[in-house]
Amino acid sequence: LPSGQTDFPVRRPTVGTAPQLWGSDDEERAGTTVTTTTTHAFWLAGRQETGESTFEVRHPWDDSLVATVGVPTDAQVDEAVEAAVAAVPVFSATPAHVRAAALDHVARRLTERTEEIARLITAENGKPVKWARGEVGRAASVFRWAAEEARRTNGETMRLDTDPGGTGRFAVVRRFPKGVVLGIAPFNFPLNLVAHKVAPAIAVGAPIILKPAPATPLSALLLGELLAETDLPVGAWSVLPVENAKMPALVQDDRLPVISFTGSDKVGYQIMDSVPRKHVTLELGGNAAAVVLADWSSEADLEWAATRIATFANYQGGQSCISVQRVIADATVYDALVEKVVAKVQAQVTGNPADDAVDVGPLVDENAARRVESWVDDAVAKGAKVLTGGTRDGASYAPTVLTELPADAILATAEVFGPVLSLHRVESTDEAFAAVNDSKFGLQAGVFTHDVQTAFRAHRELQVGGVIIGDAPSYRADQMPYGGVKDSGVGREGVKYAMDDFTYERVLVLTGLDL
Ligand code: SIN
Repeated sequence: LPSGQTDFPVRRPTVGTAPQLWGSDDEERAGTTVTTTTTHAFWLAGRQETGESTFEVRHPWDDSLVATVGVPTDAQVDEAVEAAVAAVPVFSATPAHVRAAALDHVARRLTERTEEIARLITAENGKPVKWARGEVGRAASVFRWAAEEARRTNGETMRLDTDPGGTGRFAVVRRFPKGVVLGIAPFNFPLNLVAHKVAPAIAVGAPIILKPAPATPLSALLLGELLAETDLPVGAWSVLPVENAKMPALVQDDRLPVISFTGSDKVGYQIMDSVPRKHVTLELGGNAAAVVLADWSSEADLEWAATRIATFANYQGGQSCISVQRVIADATVYDALVEKVVAKVQAQVTGNPADDAVDVGPLVDENAARRVESWVDDAVAKGAKVLTGGTRDGASYAPTVLTELPADAILATAEVFGPVLSLHRVESTDEAFAAVNDSKFGLQAGVFTHDVQTAFRAHRELQVGGVIIGDAPSYRADQMPYGGVKDSGVGREGVKYAMDDFTYERVLVLTGLDL
């Protein structure tokens, strides 16, 4: 285990298989018999426990054992839920300075322990360490923002004497937690997408039960170490690697009225459909487009666009919901752009993600790489041309550029979640924007244009949650509202927006006032 982790003796020797895992299809990993003698603890209402069974976390690069993690028993999950429910009134009444101090503490500790945590992210997820460092920095910023929002949130006031019946009346509108939040996190940002659920919950005083992704629970468990150093009330947070088979029951538990899920559209909508009366936030997939318009045509313009496209089609092996999957370029710039994109994709350094020089490491596991391989093979069989890449080595898939992608290829409509982009030539801005919208997803889009009118037109017409002008669709500042339309999800993350999601307005009407 990486330094800073605490080993706990296994209470009983573990036999049998790891839990069936629940989450996106890409997260599914085969069960493994556990023979190690130590178990990584989880966090139950702020204290460490190990449960009675375990599962393994393996390094995607070499399949080495990174950790053996305890699985909470049904009784322990129930205890965590009860503790969270009991904490609701206590936590929502906690002064802002207590919540803000805890959040600031976590931000500071993440920063102090950046290198260690980045290496842990790399070990469990396989993302290159330079991207993992960026993730730790972003998570620290999420906690810092949440501290600021916790201090800043005042509610609002409203005069009611605008009609004779409201004479002497005045309203105060404040937001209160809806109740305990069940946060379900994905593997692709095992720290920062956990931070996006935990930090806003703490900021509003809503207890949270966080279920990390089966492949990558360690960053979330380490975050628990930092939360345990704070004065947050007992029950305010738990980090529970619950068995996937147990998740449908937990999702339906009436004691958990808010669900914040990040993962596949399939699982996300299964959750939403199973609990229509709950407040559910879904951050789901995308097949983000980068649009390069005719006015983005100078040598420097195309260099920038190609660099950003090549980088953000491949960062973290393309395992980001806003990585570039589709490049839609005006015919006047298409050929020059393609040449540059291919050269820059070929220049991506692949290899061991622990190496500082590496841009693209393995995918989360070999199954994920095999799936990407099969989708590229499907596209090629139907007529697509591979300009570079198109090969797999274990869990690694080579950065790949395709053209002439036929409409009936799986890759033309599904989210690849791998280092694969396809190039599309269009004759006009109309055609480019129509192509962006011709998708079941709508998360973010990038539009390379210098024209402010076109920028506003893109903002108006593109059916996505965010439009990035002059850059790839993959840009995300953590305070921005982030989320999608269509099959990309419901609701928004981004600290303040998640805080709104976890709370509801309650109005206080004062009467008989001499206003
Ligand atoms: C995601 O994959 O949805 C998260 C992307 C990000 O936070 O940069």
